[in-house]
Amino acid sequence: MSLRIDLSGQHILVTGATRGIGRAISEQLAEAGAKVAIHYFQSRDTAQHLAENIGHGAQSFQADLGKPVEVLQLFHNILDKFKRIDGVVNNAGIAIGASVEGDDIAFTDSWSRTMLVNLHATGLICKKAINHFQEIGGGRIVNIASRAAFRGDTSDYLAYAASKGGVVALTRSIARAYGKQGIKAFTVAPGFTKTDMATDFIEKYGEEYVKNDIALTSLTKPADIAPTVAFLLSGLSDHATGATIDINAGSYVH
Ligand SMILES: NC(=O)c1ccc[n+]([C@@H]2O[C@H](COP(=O)([O-])OP(=O)(O)OC[C@H]3O[C@@H](n4cnc5c(N)ncnc54)[C@H](OP(=O)(O)O)[C@@H]3O)[C@@H](O)[C@H]2O)c1
Repeated sequence: MSLRIDLSGQHILVTGATRGIGRAISEQLAEAGAKVAIHYFQSRDTAQHLAENIGHGAQSFQADLGKPVEVLQLFHNILDKFKRIDGVVNNAGIAIGASVEGDDIAFTDSWSRTMLVNLHATGLICKKAINHFQEIGGGRIVNIASRAAFRGDTSDYLAYAASKGGVVALTRSIARAYGKQGIKAFTVAPGFTKTDMATDFIEKYGEEYVKNDIALTSLTKPADIAPTVAFLLSGLSDHATGATIDINAGSYVH
């Protein structure tokens, strides 16, 4: 088997592809020859430009993943245009802070929204992907969880950590249940990564604080995550199905 990562001929959905980790993954997959379905929520122009720039037939698709009906429509729209989907990267995610000591309604709202986008939408997209993969003889899923699923998060982000723990359990279950049908599922668990999501934290605690938490000298960038995702989708690591790949600069080794 050649060690070159070649995704030509593969049609791959990346959710939350406009910014941060999702954008780097989309660019990396296209560079390896994949036709990418670039999902976006609010960043329409960015998504369209990205599709034009990365080429290989990439197209952009809109959906609010907080609304299950839009999640279903998203998958339908992509299949309508692409005819086939070989791989899915569930990357879109939100982190809404809510204090235990704070207002009950605000706490409940943050849990509902976090679970809908991070876990419910991921589960629904996996369901649609499995249904489709069963028809075409297989496929690969990469779900982006977080170090928080294993190490835990700060007190303001209990819902975020819990949602990512759910993503890990979901991915492992799919790998075990559907492997015989040619379906492989992997978790990638980034640590702190320099994106918009991380901006608030850096502003509050400073870059030095985050650097002191990791074993390497520089903060993880989206481009440090993307190659692993391409590798997992390439078929070169199918026997790692069910596994979690930690990319956290040595900040949590388990
Ligand atoms: N950054 C970190 O430190 C870190 C650490 C561990 C894990 N992660 C995980 O890595 C993934 C990517 O994180 P990131 O830091 O790259 O995020 P980001 O820069 O904040 O980008 C979030 C992406 O999700 C999309 N999105 C937001 N709300 C959405 C909604 N309601 N429906 C559909 N899409 C929505 C956004 O689309 P629009 O721009 O179109 O609105 C955007 O493309 C997430 O699952 C996150 O939990 C991140």
